[in-house]
Amino acid sequence: MVPYEGYIALAEKLNALTPGSHAKKTALFSTGAEAVENAIKIARSYTKRSGVIAFGGAFHGRSLFAVSLTGKVMPYKAGFGPFRRRSTTPPSPATARTSPR
Ligand SMILES: Cc1ncc(COP(=O)(O)O)c(C=O)c1O
Repeated sequence: MVPYEGYIALAEKLNALTPGSHAKKTALFSTGAEAVENAIKIARSYTKRSGVIAFGGAFHGRSLFAVSLTGKVMPYKAGFGPFRRRSTTPPSPATARTSPR
């Protein structure tokens, strides 16, 4: 990534708007799938853990790793496997709210 003036200006604005007195960093991505994959890379680097929790039925994008986290098979996954095994797949909060206990 080559930072340019507009990118840096927007990142600084977002950092200033983010609540808290901790150090802040901003990275901008072109697509949701790219944001999801980079969030996982950052979390892995920080935690040194590889597991990922993805809600069942959720959509996380069409790239190979993002689609491996996506819960919906049709039309996103059918015929495109094998995928990375999802570490944990709890029901989505919406499903959990409506499911009988
Ligand atoms: C929660 C979530 N993650 C990822 C994506 C993927 O975004 P994109 O299609 O820009 O890669 C979407 C798109 O709707 C989304 O809603």
